[in-house]
Amino acid sequence: MSDESTSFANNLLSQMTLDEKIGQLHQYFSWGNFDPEVVRKGKAGSVINASGALSGQGFSGSGSAQISNHIQQLAMESRLKIPQILGRDVIHGYRTIFPIPLAQSAAFDISLAEQAASIAAKEASADGVKWTFAPMLDIARDPRWGRVAEGNGEDPYLGSQLAAAVIKGFQGTDYSAADRIVACAKHYVGYGSAEGGRDYDNGEISELTLRDIYLPPFHSAVKAGVGTLMSAFLDLNGVPATANRKLLTDVLRGEWGFDGFVVSDWDSVVELINHGVAENESEAAELAFHAGVDMEMVSRTYPNTLAFNLQNGKISLEEIDEGVRRILRIKHRAGLFANPFTDLARSSRDILTPNSRALARKFAQDTIVLLKNKDNILPLKNHCKVLVGGYFIHATAELFGTWTPDGNPADVQPFSTAFSENAPRDFELHFADNTDLALAIAQESDLVILTLGENPRRSGENSNVSDLSLPPGQAEFVDQMIALGKPVIMVIFAGRPLAIGRQVSQADAVLYAWHPGIEGAAAIADIIFGRVSPSARLPITFPRATGQVPIYYNHKNSGRPVSPDGPFRTRYVDLPASPLFPFGFGLTYTNFDYAKIALSSESLRNQLRVSADITNTGQTAGVEVVQLYVRDLVGSVTRPIRELKNYQKIFLKPGESRRVSFIITEEDLAFTHLDGSFSVEPGKFEVWIAPDSSSGINATFRI
Ligand code: GLC
Repeated sequence: MSDESTSFANNLLSQMTLDEKIGQLHQYFSWGNFDPEVVRKGKAGSVINASGALSGQGFSGSGSAQISNHIQQLAMESRLKIPQILGRDVIHGYRTIFPIPLAQSAAFDISLAEQAASIAAKEASADGVKWTFAPMLDIARDPRWGRVAEGNGEDPYLGSQLAAAVIKGFQGTDYSAADRIVACAKHYVGYGSAEGGRDYDNGEISELTLRDIYLPPFHSAVKAGVGTLMSAFLDLNGVPATANRKLLTDVLRGEWGFDGFVVSDWDSVVELINHGVAENESEAAELAFHAGVDMEMVSRTYPNTLAFNLQNGKISLEEIDEGVRRILRIKHRAGLFANPFTDLARSSRDILTPNSRALARKFAQDTIVLLKNKDNILPLKNHCKVLVGGYFIHATAELFGTWTPDGNPADVQPFSTAFSENAPRDFELHFADNTDLALAIAQESDLVILTLGENPRRSGENSNVSDLSLPPGQAEFVDQMIALGKPVIMVIFAGRPLAIGRQVSQADAVLYAWHPGIEGAAAIADIIFGRVSPSARLPITFPRATGQVPIYYNHKNSGRPVSPDGPFRTRYVDLPASPLFPFGFGLTYTNFDYAKIALSSESLRNQLRVSADITNTGQTAGVEVVQLYVRDLVGSVTRPIRELKNYQKIFLKPGESRRVSFIITEEDLAFTHLDGSFSVEPGKFEVWIAPDSSSGINATFRI
């Protein structure tokens, strides 16, 4: 690929020594004792966890921006003045913490996701961070896995849409702009398939499922121009992802034309020894580099052994040059050679602004899922005495969720304060987390709001659970509260679907708030008191019990499809086969009717239009996420019983109707065949326009 950045990289390459080339292939992490010579002598191409995390390690100035500029100044003292690309995990906000990515997915709103990523880029770049290790694009079908919080759920279409939106938010159309940063699609690939939901454990994915479920969000990221990818830790089908040449080179570059660079995940190169595919560091480096990992994060097999591998003919100078070229090209595209420094005035101007907080509140409002609303108890209208109890009434940073290294608890009011300030004046609110006091006040109250769920410490990397029930003790507390006979509204905080069937049956209303970010408490008040109507939908299936996992909507039919009646057709003898809540599910404060589905033709040639009338039959306005699902009824391989192919969020006033249309193309219906080809097959298809993955109105057509 010849472009200006490639020409620049080639020219610089021609001046570099072997040591300088190998230096670019290493990402340096200082374990508390930053060595400036690593940068000054060009022995690293990137510093990880730059900015704040390095404070106290001998840098001039304690602020993040000062530290970043200090590191770049060291780079300017190197022989060729090659700037560092400073990397950091800016996953769902930098200082303005937005809802966790799984929650963001529930908004089914790519514009909000893009806007939030733009703000994150603006804030992080103000502190000199130019590369984020996000978006995490791992499809997850097992909520025991802690990192389900960090991704976009179980669906490849929604995940692909969000991948492109978030990358555009981080990178813009030109990431040399001072307020843009390079994105990193991770963890390539299949990380969410770790057996038992145990992080880092191995995964087994068939080629067809890999191609049609796990890879599409990464393909979408490459088509969106993502600058980097990160290889995953896991052993995938017997080949660790960090040593998988077929995926890292043949697919990523050969099939998709990716021209950025690949960074390994923390120590995943040296961990090839643990995997048992390399005997020592030299073999690990040879495997990973030859597979297509250009930059090694943290572990040091590249600086320690690449020259040895070169001398022994295990890798070639051309391969080294190509890896360095890819890194220099991204640095050039990122504008780092033109100016590696950040304007120190930006931090106070661009970080945690009123606008960014306002967007965080709006995003949180649109991610909170209404799961139950018996007798329309919500929104609360009539003033009354309310006990707000449970486990999150003092929450501050607990609202952030996982992966928020730059979130500051001082930026967040305690839940009780923010909730009170955003409640109507004529409500009498009492807060109590202590069980006895809470029970006593509840006894004298008109209704109860219970804050339940999991602390972010149970969420994120290597925070896996064997039991999806509420954390210990909470169910018993709920039982005691229910026994008082008061109406109970539950607000549940979590980084994953929880098996809350008992609590849902006990409650009058249930709001699933995930970990809603810096403005989460205010957003919850907005919904409870009716300033905003809930519109979010589940981006992942909610199981009834842990034992039901894995359970997901786009499953195959099997030879004995699940049905409530008939022998040998259930999945369990002790549990209904259906999930607690299906993918795409969510209630609003009104009701919507779906009618009159119609097709532009009975057969699809190139494309076909499907439409239906959606009517707000309730008394209040509301937003409906109208979903389009298809099913290929007969294929050369088995096909999912439903696949999401599009959605539209529409606002309707009470009584208002709108005809919603979707276009279905042959591309939408294509899938991977046993011979590896990707195409649509003739035959009969079913199509739904639906409020979730288990209902809706349908029709059939043929190709
Ligand atoms: C971690 C994570 C990865 C993260 C990286 C740098 O181990 O797996 O997602 O970006 O290290 O912090």
